[in-house]
Amino acid sequence: MVDQVREYLEQHQDRFVTELTEFLKIPSVSADSTLNAETRRGAEFVLQQMEAAGIESRTIETAGHPIVYGAWQKAEGKPTVLVYGHYDVQPPDPLDQWITPPFEPDIRDGHIYARGATDDKGQMYTHIKSVEAWMKTHGELPVNVIFVIEGEEEVGSDNLDRFLEENKDLVACDIAVISDTSQYAPGIPAITYGLRGILACEVIVRGPNQDLHSGVFGGAVTNPANGLARMIAALHDDAGRVQIPGFYDGVIELTQEERDQFAALPFDEFAFMENLGVNAVDGEEGFTTLERRWARPTCDVNGMISGYTGEGPKTIVPAEARVKITCRLVPDQDPVLLTKALEQYLQALLPTGLTMEFVDFHGCKALVFDYQSPYMSAARSAIEQAFGAAPVMIREGGSIPVVETFQTVVGVDTLLLGWGQNTDNLHSPNERFALESFRQGTLASALLWRELANVTG
Ligand code: BES
Ligand code: ZN
Repeated sequence: MVDQVREYLEQHQDRFVTELTEFLKIPSVSADSTLNAETRRGAEFVLQQMEAAGIESRTIETAGHPIVYGAWQKAEGKPTVLVYGHYDVQPPDPLDQWITPPFEPDIRDGHIYARGATDDKGQMYTHIKSVEAWMKTHGELPVNVIFVIEGEEEVGSDNLDRFLEENKDLVACDIAVISDTSQYAPGIPAITYGLRGILACEVIVRGPNQDLHSGVFGGAVTNPANGLARMIAALHDDAGRVQIPGFYDGVIELTQEERDQFAALPFDEFAFMENLGVNAVDGEEGFTTLERRWARPTCDVNGMISGYTGEGPKTIVPAEARVKITCRLVPDQDPVLLTKALEQYLQALLPTGLTMEFVDFHGCKALVFDYQSPYMSAARSAIEQAFGAAPVMIREGGSIPVVETFQTVVGVDTLLLGWGQNTDNLHSPNERFALESFRQGTLASALLWRELANVTG
């Protein structure tokens, strides 16, 4: 039975790559409103592909970019799986660093290069094609499937959250599946059982009502850039611990079992350093690099602007200084409470002579799933058959906000089955996806439907 599906996937693999190429040509950059029509074309492409696969589908309008919704629910008595993905992509900048243009997909050294190749068009597409293979060879699926493919993941998923809250009946399911993470390493597939949460904000400190001559006025008024630098420096102590009051209160410490599991994964710290071009690893004292990346909370400056940044010197005291900050969170830290705590801490540190504005962007909680659930076992088996290697169980440091909404609003865990690699340049120039991973991921997805059919709630 599964052999026919395998055969179908093999026979049609070249067409799948051709179609993915067409998909990747669409510049569906959700953050860029001048490209709204193109982003909509991305939704239409997904809709047409889902219908071609045999899934009754429609686009659902939102206050922003449309959601593509489809469902096939004729497998009576079998579990219902909700597949989530996103057709929007990150902005392609900096354009001059792309070897071939971001929306002119190019195949070289076994990879397809384009913005969205792995994040998330290529990965999401594997699930549509696996469903097509079952429908074309059997006229039915082993499980019930609901697709929710959105166009606003890269800008915070606000409208999706609203859709899920208002349409609980349309999205009722037993388990969610997302392919928007990574394998552990080439040849080592993974299931991600935990993601970090996030809080994001911007802080603006203001001093004089305009930039001043630093010779005439310097030393007599507080310099906003100097002041903000002191505030930022107070975010950590010398041991790399975040100093926001109460920051570690909710933190659930790693169990010895998890620490042992992380330590048992192959990890070459020198290769890691070399790949990133750094001469040392650094972070919270007492934790390994994998622990720091996956299971410890952080506070990072993402960007800072102040004063004169053009060529050559300019002697001024700037009028203001700005910083963008994100904290990555772990269970059971609360993004709402900690955003307040961060604001209050910075306010208390504000030097005299300055005022502060605090802008709260967004946040979501971290989640860790039971890695021994029957759904996990089903996924493990499907991946092992498709990739020829058993997946390792990992956590990852990135965030996918909808995973929290699936937990709290829909009441289900998510299987995070990443087919990409951390070296696929997601959010960076020359994003890519290995064609072999595309093929294996599609097969794993096809096998997953059969494996999940045997799971009883
Ligand atoms: N696909 C990523 C998340 C990801 C990447 C998780 C690699 C694990 C490994 C996703 O598209 C993303 O970039 N999310 C943002 C979310 C934020 C804007 C709320 C992130 O993590 O920065
Ligand atoms: Zn992304």
